[in-house]
Amino acid sequence: MSDVLAANRDALIAAARTAMGTAYAPYSGFHVGAALLFDDGAIVTGANFENASYGLSLCAETVACSIAAHGGRRGGLLAVAVLGGMQGRVDAAISPCGRCRQILNELAALGGTDPLVLCVGERDVVEMRLSVLLPNAFGPANLA
Ligand code: THU
Repeated sequence: MSDVLAANRDALIAAARTAMGTAYAPYSGFHVGAALLFDDGAIVTGANFENASYGLSLCAETVACSIAAHGGRRGGLLAVAVLGGMQGRVDAAISPCGRCRQILNELAALGGTDPLVLCVGERDVVEMRLSVLLPNAFGPANLA
């Protein structure tokens, strides 16, 4: 584990949990929080933002990536924590959906990192590299 991740792991998980509190999920009732850790120690968070046109809903990881990109971040992504549950009651660990894996991959690929994804449950944290969740990813290098 990198020093930056070791020093910020607990804060990253806590940030994802706090972010979940801002979820707007009146349709599914499933509240999700995500937190991104960058190599300078910065943490950027997001929560899901649903839409009355259900399919347009934005996942927590997507919102966090959008905020990070808008803040000027282009890579340096070391780790991602995600957690969620009905009305914010976290039970089983959840992992990023397919679309979010692809969006996370864009931010990671820009800086050449393979972030550790912390899937946070109430009793356990399941850790996987993004490359394991999204093997053989299509990314910016394919369009260079
Ligand atoms: N959701 C996320 O925010 N992240 C994921 O990785 C999986 C699903 C949200 C989308 C929707 O608002 C709710 O969870 C139920 O699918």
